[in-house]
Amino acid sequence: MATKDIGPKNPVAKTNDMVVDYVDHRTGMKTGLNWFMNRNIPAETSWFQTLGFTAMALFGLQAITGIILAMYYKPDAATAFESIRVITDDLTWGWLVRGMHKWGASAMIVVVFLHMGRVFFFGAYKYPRELTWVTGSLLLVMTMFMGLTGYLLIWDQKAYWATVVAVNLTASAPVLGPYLADVLRAGPEFGPNTLSRFYAIHMLLIPGGMITFIAIHLFLVSKLGIAEPPWSKRRTMVEREKEEAKRQAARDRLPTGRTRVPVRAPEHPPLRTPAPTSSSTATTPEGGGS
Ligand code: HEM
Repeated sequence: MATKDIGPKNPVAKTNDMVVDYVDHRTGMKTGLNWFMNRNIPAETSWFQTLGFTAMALFGLQAITGIILAMYYKPDAATAFESIRVITDDLTWGWLVRGMHKWGASAMIVVVFLHMGRVFFFGAYKYPRELTWVTGSLLLVMTMFMGLTGYLLIWDQKAYWATVVAVNLTASAPVLGPYLADVLRAGPEFGPNTLSRFYAIHMLLIPGGMITFIAIHLFLVSKLGIAEPPWSKRRTMVEREKEEAKRQAARDRLPTGRTRVPVRAPEHPPLRTPAPTSSSTATTPEGGGS
């Protein structure tokens, strides 16, 4: 079979180029994507550096399965439990989507912790990546809150009492604890409103926050580049040079903390004043006549 023409003359390829050019001209999309996607990475980059992306992929999976579940889940105290039963037992592949969402949540928490551990042991949180670490910490808190708020939605005895314990623990925290517990319970007591509150937090508030912070986190990762692993020869060399420069600066410093003025050879005055030449008597230094 003859190969189809996919060269620049092909009308599909031409239209494709035209659309891309049209959008790029108005948005700078190509430059932006190029900045985000293409960059050099350290020679020693390994599988350890894929954990962040794995966490992000799991977040995507949770979002997709969550949207499907939300199409059938009924966030009401009278119907929530029954809607979960319908999803699991009656809907085609409902058990699979629910199972993926449930196990995906646990997997995501494990992977986020592994990613954090990798960042810690690689020393990737140090200057200039402190803010990447801070945004990551917020993502960790939000991931765990997703687990807490999602657990109640099953609305069976185990979920109900486990959440009572978790919220009571929150209430015992100093200063903000009681207020935060009131916000979570939607009042002083657990009740039907608590379910709606948890549903809104689980479906809207935290996913919105996570999307925002993942975007900031990725922007920082793109801007700063991936940190070199501790066994990188280049990193060891740069760090050794920095240490040496620090030690040298300390050696040059006086005990008072002031820096020593560099010693220069004294400038001796000329032994004899040079005899005036005929030209120097004829003109001033500016070259004017006397
Ligand atoms: C939902 C959670 C998270 C997602 C989706 C995420 C995503 C990512 C991705 C895709 C990268 C680049 C690739 C890599 O180094 O693995 C990265 C790097 C990074 N993350 Fe996360 N992350 C999350 C949580 C965290 C947490 C909990 C921390 C620490 C408290 C953290 C701190 C960092 C730091 C410091 C880097 C830069 C690492 C380097 O330059 O080598 N992240 N993250």
